[in-house]
Amino acid sequence: MKTIYVKIEEQAKPYLDTRQNEIHVSICYAMAKRLLSQYPDADPEVVLPAILLHDVGWKMVPEEKHLGAFGPRGKDMETRRIHEIEGVGIARRILASLEYDRRKTEEILVIIEGHDSRDEALSLNDAVVKDADKLWRFTPAGLETDRKRFGFDKRQYASWLRAMIDTWFFTTAARKIAREGLDEVELVMQCEQRGESPSEEASKDLE
Ligand SMILES: [Fe+2]
Ligand SMILES: [Fe+2]
Repeated sequence: MKTIYVKIEEQAKPYLDTRQNEIHVSICYAMAKRLLSQYPDADPEVVLPAILLHDVGWKMVPEEKHLGAFGPRGKDMETRRIHEIEGVGIARRILASLEYDRRKTEEILVIIEGHDSRDEALSLNDAVVKDADKLWRFTPAGLETDRKRFGFDKRQYASWLRAMIDTWFFTTAARKIAREGLDEVELVMQCEQRGESPSEEASKDLE
């Protein structure tokens, strides 16, 4: 039998075929689960639907407007806001069609509504969603996708990300995952520079 999360994911999918959002959301979902395992007081029934649905609103924004609305050079706050507001409407329809718990639905919608524009976290659930969303940037796939679309060199982008860790994250666990992600990316870059594979480097450490 399909879990409620699979059903939500299926309904979100048609809205995620833009801006690499399918891969973005699946990585964020995995990150949310990692964070939930460390914060038992956070509610998966709020966090997981919120992360699956948080970016569905991008589908309503013309693609040529995407790049101006997020990332280190994103200045178009109006467009960024549109993806949040449109996202709330789509998420509301999806959750209602699945007869999702009404109180949890309201909390999910509030989280989606401010997931990028609101700087503070309203609750632990909100903090976990915000952190899982940002952790994508610290994975090899996220870092590579973002630094290419923003036009940065990999090393330059990785060091900017490292400088942002303390500003961006709300949870200690997310900061740790972010640092470990960058350590790995930097190790691979060092190996690439020396023409070695990371596995050769790891076996040297064992000698
Ligand atoms: Fe977003
Ligand atoms: Fe996102």
